[in-house]
Amino acid sequence: MINRTASALTNDDRPVLDPFLTPDAAGFDGLRLAEVPFVPELCLHLAEDAIVLRARLEAEVGGALPPPFWADAWAGGQAVARYVLDHPDVVAGLRVLDVAAGSGLVAIAAAVAGAAAVTANDIDPYALAAIRLNAHANGVTVDANRGDLLDGDGDGAEVVLAGDVFYSESMAERMLSFLQRAAKRGARVLVGDPGRAYLPHDRMEVVASYQVSMMGAAEDAQIRHAYVLELFG
Ligand SMILES: C[S@@+](CC[C@H](N)C(=O)[O-])C[C@H]1O[C@@H](n2cnc3c(N)ncnc32)[C@H](O)[C@@H]1O
Repeated sequence: MINRTASALTNDDRPVLDPFLTPDAAGFDGLRLAEVPFVPELCLHLAEDAIVLRARLEAEVGGALPPPFWADAWAGGQAVARYVLDHPDVVAGLRVLDVAAGSGLVAIAAAVAGAAAVTANDIDPYALAAIRLNAHANGVTVDANRGDLLDGDGDGAEVVLAGDVFYSESMAERMLSFLQRAAKRGARVLVGDPGRAYLPHDRMEVVASYQVSMMGAAEDAQIRHAYVLELFG
């Protein structure tokens, strides 16, 4: 089990850090580099305590911030990452988009599995910094893309991956439309989800079901299953 503190990173790691997440920043002190429970081949900078981390980052910037979703490996993301690593043919040699990437876990798994090019997209600037940091920690190249792509169709990606994106009604609505457009233009669309309330499971087919325990965010401690689902165009 890797459980190094983030401050143990060498100077070589520092150029990839964003100004938001420098080794001296309060937020960075609250992260640890750890093995991902369901994907132990990979490691991520995860929050020691997401609530404390958020409070420290807010104190640092002097204002409210969204929850640091990028500092947890969500159950749905872990499921897709596991699936991609176990079925590298899904992404090998292809252009992959990980939408709402958070830590970049899914994107990193795709890069390790042999994708030709991987883009990890998120709207949270801290997530972008975390994606760069985590890609570097795993020795892969991922293009961290900031912005809201959900009104598009995935910009030519041949595979679109989405981990744990159906956690609110408004996000689920926009995400489903986005993924449907991507699937309609021919992209393969895979979603990881532990069965959240807003998962549109009637529109998808389960391709893998995993029994899991104690993985992801603290509030997900009760989760016992995580699924990978395919959306067809
Ligand atoms: C629950 S986290 C999942 C992160 C990651 N996929 C995983 O499974 O660990 C959801 C992520 O969606 C991002 N997000 C929310 N709205 C978004 C949007 N419109 N476009 C891109 N990302 C978005 C959040 O910033 C957050 O990082």
